[in-house]
Amino acid sequence: MALSPSKLIKLGSSFDGFCLKCRQVSKWLPGSLTTLLNMDSLRARQAGDPILRAEAETVDITTIHSPEFKGMVERMFKVMRRAKGHGIAAPQIGVGLRVFAIEFTGQHIKTLKDKGLSDKDIKRMGIALVPPRVFINPELRIIDSTLLAFREACLSVEGFSAVVPRAKEIEITALDREARPVTWRTSGWPARIVQHEVDHLKGNLYIDCMLYKSFMKNDWRDYTRK
Ligand code: CO
Repeated sequence: MALSPSKLIKLGSSFDGFCLKCRQVSKWLPGSLTTLLNMDSLRARQAGDPILRAEAETVDITTIHSPEFKGMVERMFKVMRRAKGHGIAAPQIGVGLRVFAIEFTGQHIKTLKDKGLSDKDIKRMGIALVPPRVFINPELRIIDSTLLAFREACLSVEGFSAVVPRAKEIEITALDREARPVTWRTSGWPARIVQHEVDHLKGNLYIDCMLYKSFMKNDWRDYTRK
């Protein structure tokens, strides 16, 4: 069917309407990201900051290729690596967007071993190397709901840790940093990190689901010495 000029105008206007709508998905448009990235430090926001308790917004996919969005992702990696974290969510750098990054390196394993973990512990925790990955607008599905309880920490609850039960295996569907759809099924430690980061996007921290009596200040032993 041929389209008359008037129909084309109508189609054009509804398309504009659609674009306008998808642009309105998030208030974190490139300009606001620049302002924030110029003023913010390389330290993660800490518990008490309201942005850590707010639900993050869906990313407008047309902004993913902008230099500002890329700058935000770079900032996330910088903050995470500086604090030697295994994962970070955008709200932790002050951006309320549904984005998180994860990375687990040989250096992380070495640090765990230096802290006294054995190869057996590492195997039991399901630790595996994960190259730097970014997940945008993630959807999480639990594959194996068996709960595994291990100690974890958070860059936003600096200096503390607690035992947290998490599902053994998950599947995550999202866009990567090139806006390509990705699905990742994983278990053990990477699955734990993913669940922790997805919680951040809902305004939840591990302290909400930890085994309360396991909560500790990591250097509590220092206070027992004179
Ligand atoms: Co965290």
